[in-house]
Amino acid sequence: MPKKPHVMILGTGHAVPDRVLTNAALEQMVDTSDQWIMERTGICERRIVAPGTPLSELASLAATRALAAAGVSAKEIDLIILGTVTGDMKFPATACIIQDLIGAKQAVAFDLSAACSGFLYGLQIAEGLMLTSGYRKALVIGGEILSSMVNWQDRDTCVLFGDGTGAIVLGAAEGERGIIHTCLGSDGAHVKLLYNPGCGSLNPPTPDNVAAQLHTIHMAGREVFRHAVTAMSNAMQQVLDEADIAPDELQLLIPHQANLRIIEGVAKRLHIPAERVYINVDRFGNTSSASIPIALDEASRAGLIHPGDLVGMVTFGAGLTWASAVIRF
Ligand code: COA
Repeated sequence: MPKKPHVMILGTGHAVPDRVLTNAALEQMVDTSDQWIMERTGICERRIVAPGTPLSELASLAATRALAAAGVSAKEIDLIILGTVTGDMKFPATACIIQDLIGAKQAVAFDLSAACSGFLYGLQIAEGLMLTSGYRKALVIGGEILSSMVNWQDRDTCVLFGDGTGAIVLGAAEGERGIIHTCLGSDGAHVKLLYNPGCGSLNPPTPDNVAAQLHTIHMAGREVFRHAVTAMSNAMQQVLDEADIAPDELQLLIPHQANLRIIEGVAKRLHIPAERVYINVDRFGNTSSASIPIALDEASRAGLIHPGDLVGMVTFGAGLTWASAVIRF
């Protein structure tokens, strides 16, 4: 029997930049083609902020929209967790800046670094803190301005990523509705498959390190692909097994939107038909920690999630990290 939930999602919101970067525009920037990008990734376009736009600006908008959808005021929020690797500054936490921008005066606020798994890591941590520490309403946000750390001369990576933010408001569960189970995992043996080696204490942003592009994303694409399919399939199977739920009981699967072929590989391994898998990677590219909450908000506003539905979520990212969740709406 699935466990009785304690915490549920009260509302969702997302915000993406207005500016669209198409594959055709990328053809003018690096040696690539719309056909190559479409065939290898399924991405048609991504959203990119105007230079200098901080994450806090976009994330505050997503948070405000989630609060409105939940019918909760910012003053009621006790906890803000932001999953990101592209905060406004190295410190303080961007969650604190968002707290001030939205007026969540009572909230404890911090950032969480788990790359593309940041949102689902935040979900489990928020649920745990709400159970143990008395927080009643929480905002969990996933947000990235990945355009700020992309090497726009590197065709291996620059075609993949986009900017965006998504947010949810959590509160006490009602009946059977809420977070049924979550699983997290990490494997630090593969740090160098996907990383940003500059900007930290290892390689501070000296002129030489910046000239060597150490402050941008470095990735071994083919190996990341292989790990992503295996880790996401296993993580989703684990959360379903531990919750005693069969894959065909899921009305919707919301996977991390990194690459259409990764998503198809995961769905195939789990025997989940394509019509039950939410996809928006074609319009936004990989927005890292924002991809699941953006997709969740879109699916919810499109009427694809009904009361009582079981929704699965699964992700994978640098670290390596992975995470999965099953939620009854
Ligand atoms: N346009 C045109 N050609 C490109 C290109 C681009 N944007 N990027 C790479 N290529 C070339 C390569 O240089 C290589 O050329 P070569 O055969 O002459 O050496 C060729 O395309 C094939 O490269 P390969 O890396 O084997 O392609 P792939 O099928 O593995 O696809 C990715 C590349 C990056 C799309 C794919 O590996 C991937 O999606 N990996 C996972 C990335 C990801 O999701 N990261 C985030 C995880 S959260």
